[in-house]
Amino acid sequence: MKIQIETMGCQMNRLDSELIEGELRKCGHEIVASQQDAEAVIYNTCSVRQHAENKVLSRLGADSQRKAEGKSLIVAVIGCMAQNYGDELRRKYPHVDIVCAPGRIGELPQMLLDARAGVTTVALDPTRRENITNPPGDSHISKMELGREVTPGRAQAFVRVAKGCNFFCSYCIVPFVRGPERSRRPEDIVTEVRRLVDGGRSEITLLGQTVNSYRYSEGGRTTSFAELLAKISPIEGLRRLRFVTSHPLDFGNDVLEAMRDLPNVCPYIHCPAQSGSDAMLKKMNRKYTRVQYDDLLERARQIVPDVVIAGDFIVGFPGETEEDHQASAELIRKAGYKNSFVFKYSPRPGTLAQKRYPDDVPDSVKRRRNNELLGVQEHVGLEHHRGYIGKSVEVLVEGPSPHASRPDARARLEGEVQLLGRTRGDHIVVFEGPLALAQQYAQVRIENATSLTLFATLLRQV
Ligand code: 5AD
Ligand code: SF4
Repeated sequence: MKIQIETMGCQMNRLDSELIEGELRKCGHEIVASQQDAEAVIYNTCSVRQHAENKVLSRLGADSQRKAEGKSLIVAVIGCMAQNYGDELRRKYPHVDIVCAPGRIGELPQMLLDARAGVTTVALDPTRRENITNPPGDSHISKMELGREVTPGRAQAFVRVAKGCNFFCSYCIVPFVRGPERSRRPEDIVTEVRRLVDGGRSEITLLGQTVNSYRYSEGGRTTSFAELLAKISPIEGLRRLRFVTSHPLDFGNDVLEAMRDLPNVCPYIHCPAQSGSDAMLKKMNRKYTRVQYDDLLERARQIVPDVVIAGDFIVGFPGETEEDHQASAELIRKAGYKNSFVFKYSPRPGTLAQKRYPDDVPDSVKRRRNNELLGVQEHVGLEHHRGYIGKSVEVLVEGPSPHASRPDARARLEGEVQLLGRTRGDHIVVFEGPLALAQQYAQVRIENATSLTLFATLLRQV
C-alpha cells in the first residue's frame, strides 16, 4: 500500500512516526510524500492546544468531502487526538477508518489491512483510572522500539526513556492522553542506543515528557536519570547525547554534573518556566516557585559554564495580570535563553484549569503579550548568539539550508551550497560548504549572528 504519514506536535510524535514508517516498510508498504499518490493517510496528531486540533479537524473535513466524491482513501488518526476523542471522532467523521492511541501503534499494520477489507478500528489506551502503573520491564513500550530497523544515512535519532506524565500542570492535557509516567528499563535503553549507534546514528536525543524525572526501580535497585546518562555515555561512536524536555523541579545537580563530566552529553537544557510569576506558577500547579527556578538557572550556569538554555512560556493564563506578565518578561531577560517558545493559553477540556478558571484574558491581550515576550526574547537571543562571534564551534550538518539564498559565483564554481547545522548547544548555524557534508560533523568559525541563527565559515570536516 502507498501510505503518507503527516506528523504534527512534539518530538514524541516524530519518533512514533519514524517507528511506524519502519514497521510499515518492513510489511512491504511504500511511504510516499504527498497525499495525491497515497492510498492511506496517517495523521499523527497533537492535542496540546486547540489550534493544533483544528488543523487536523479541517483536514478530516476535506478528506470526508473527497471520499464522498468517490476518492478511495484510508484515513487513520493516531497520537493524542485519537486518545482524546476516541469513538467520538468516528461518530463525527464516519469516513475515518482507524483511530489508534499512542500505546497501540504496534498494531497499525494489521489495522490498515483490516481497513482495506472494510473493517474499521478504534483502539484506545486504558484511561488513567484503569492503568497499571510502572509495570516492570518493557511490556508497556511497543515492541517496535527494540526491534526497530536502523536506516543508514542519518546521524540523529530519538530514543524514548519514559512515557506519560505525572505532573498534572493545570492547563495540560498530556497526563490524560499519554497516561501516567512509566520509565523504561535502563538495559533496554542502552541496547537500543547501541543498535542505533552501530547503525550509524551518532547523535541520540533521549525523550520523555519530563525526561529528567526518569527513575527506574527493579529488584531493589533504582536508576536515576543522571545514572542513566552515565550508562549510555560510554557507548563507542556516540558523539552527542541530548535529552528533552526537562521539568525544573527534578533538575538536581547530579544531572548538571553529568553534563559537565560526560564529554558527549551536550550542554543544552530545554527547561520550560511557563511563567515568571509565583501566583501563576501556583495556579498552573507547576510545583516550583520563581526562586527555585532562578536557583536552577544559577546552578546550571555555575556547574556547566557553557550551558545553553531554552524555555517555554504561556501567556494569558486565567487571571494573568500585567504584573504577572512583566514577571515573565523579566525572567526571559534574566535567564538569557537561547530561544523561548511562547504560547497563548488554550483551555483544554477536562483539565483542572479549564474546569476551575474562566478563560478571562481576551485574545487581543494574549496576542499582545505573546508579541511582547517574543520581542524581549529577540533581544536576549541576539545578545546570546552574538556572544559566539569569532568562536570556532562543532556542528552536525543537517543538510542544505531550507532558506538558502542564491549561492555566489565562487560558491557555485566550487560546488558549494548553503548548509544548515546545529551546535552542541542546539544553535542553528548556516554556512557554505559541499553538500557531501550533510549528516557529517564540521568545525566552523562564527562570523555573524541574528536572534535565532549563527552565520559561519567552514574550517574543516571533523
Ligand atoms: N495552552 C497553551 N500552551 C500549552 N502548553 C501546554 N498546554 C498548553 C495549553 N493548554 C505549552 C507549554 C508546554 C508546551 C509543550 O506547550 O508551554 O511546555
Ligand atoms: Fe504537561 Fe506539565 Fe506534564 Fe509538561 S510537566 S507534559 S506541561 S503536565
